[in-house]
Amino acid sequence: MNKLWGGRFAKATDSLVHQFNASIQFDVRLADEDIGGSAAWARGLAAAGVLTAVEAKTIIAGLEQVRAEFAAGSFELAPGDEDVHTAVERRLTEIVGQVGGKLHTGRSRNDQVATDFRLWVMRACQQADSWLAGLQNALIASAEANLTLPMPGYTHLQHAQPVTWGHWALSHFWPLARDRGRFAAAKTQAAVLPLGSAALAGTAFPVDREALARELGFAAVSANSLDAVSDRDFAADFLYAAAMVGLHLSRLSEQLILFSAAEFGFVRLDDGYSTGSSLMPQKKNPDTLELTRGKSGRLIGHLTGLLTTLKGLPSTYDKDLQEDKEPLFDAFDTLALALPVMAGLIRTLQLRPERMAAQLEPGLLATDLADYLVKKGVPFRQAHGIVGQVVRLAEEKGVAMTAVSLTELQAIHSAFEADAAQALQMETALENRGNVGGTAETALQTQLAAAKRVVEKAD
Ligand code: ARG
Repeated sequence: MNKLWGGRFAKATDSLVHQFNASIQFDVRLADEDIGGSAAWARGLAAAGVLTAVEAKTIIAGLEQVRAEFAAGSFELAPGDEDVHTAVERRLTEIVGQVGGKLHTGRSRNDQVATDFRLWVMRACQQADSWLAGLQNALIASAEANLTLPMPGYTHLQHAQPVTWGHWALSHFWPLARDRGRFAAAKTQAAVLPLGSAALAGTAFPVDREALARELGFAAVSANSLDAVSDRDFAADFLYAAAMVGLHLSRLSEQLILFSAAEFGFVRLDDGYSTGSSLMPQKKNPDTLELTRGKSGRLIGHLTGLLTTLKGLPSTYDKDLQEDKEPLFDAFDTLALALPVMAGLIRTLQLRPERMAAQLEPGLLATDLADYLVKKGVPFRQAHGIVGQVVRLAEEKGVAMTAVSLTELQAIHSAFEADAAQALQMETALENRGNVGGTAETALQTQLAAAKRVVEKAD
């Protein structure tokens, strides 16, 4: 095996060490970015007078051939290829001959890998954004179709107050909007060009880094070569954004698992999005949702893992940094399935309004009865206690709160009048919350329109 750095070594690398040291198995994913970065570097060297125009042209044509080989799946790895950078350079030199050896002038794999990886993250952020938008659109469609369908709302998983399906569905839309913001921010962090930092001290050749940045789609050039080759903040930012998506998907999954259980029965998963049991013929299992919930663990793990790898590294590049790529690749691949699968599951979800209606018990209106007393001039704290007595009386009598008679209500407090029954209506409770973000139909329409604007603007 011929190492690109083998000059000072008298002995070949131990074969297990070669395997241990190599990253080609996974960083081959960066081939396109690596070749793009190398072509830009060759142009930069030529513009700086380091390469002749002919040399640069030869190198760039050779690189394009290597790119075509990767695209066609015909690129053959050689046993000595350690990582994507050495593999590309090795193949380039096979194609163009000795002149290929001039490409690495004034650069290092340290600024090269940081450049490649940032380019990959920039693209990955863009891709994640479109998957998130897909799920957002599915939630919007679900919300719109059943905007005012009443259902119980929960705190502590106990009946709390009535809400609507549209309100609930949109409550899972907004976290995704914030996720998209996080990916956009990660992309901005990644869009700083390290190329030209060389191994650590900066390149000794007058390559125009600003021109390189423009050519490669970076927004700025790194200000400090030492920082540029060690900084992996952008990778952690990407993983944080991915972990937050995982967390949001997990919460949505958990909620839908509950809603699809017989005890709730609010929703039915489409057959295409559920699985059966090998033993119990009647089973329809929410495996899709359970896996999505489970995968949040690995996304959070990737973030924790990378942060742990990065902490305590001495300046500048250390081989530990090679551990940065696999967690991001896996996080990306996880989202590539989890987000479109969830979008499909939401789009095909069947709602069961009758099961939701069956759970709309009068207890959900206790707050509204207290609000009724407030409107009659009773201080809220006192009203809370009075309604508590009504709830207790209903419980003692074994009847619903709505079945307590006006006479009984008035015996508890004189502020109760004939219109108290009106306060104890689901529709009234929903309509009473017309402020921004509430359950009234107008507020829901406003929210839905805002959600649509957010998706369109970001697209
Ligand atoms: N495969 C390496 C990585 O992913 C490339 C950089 C190697 N640099 C070095 N000085 N050994 O980090």
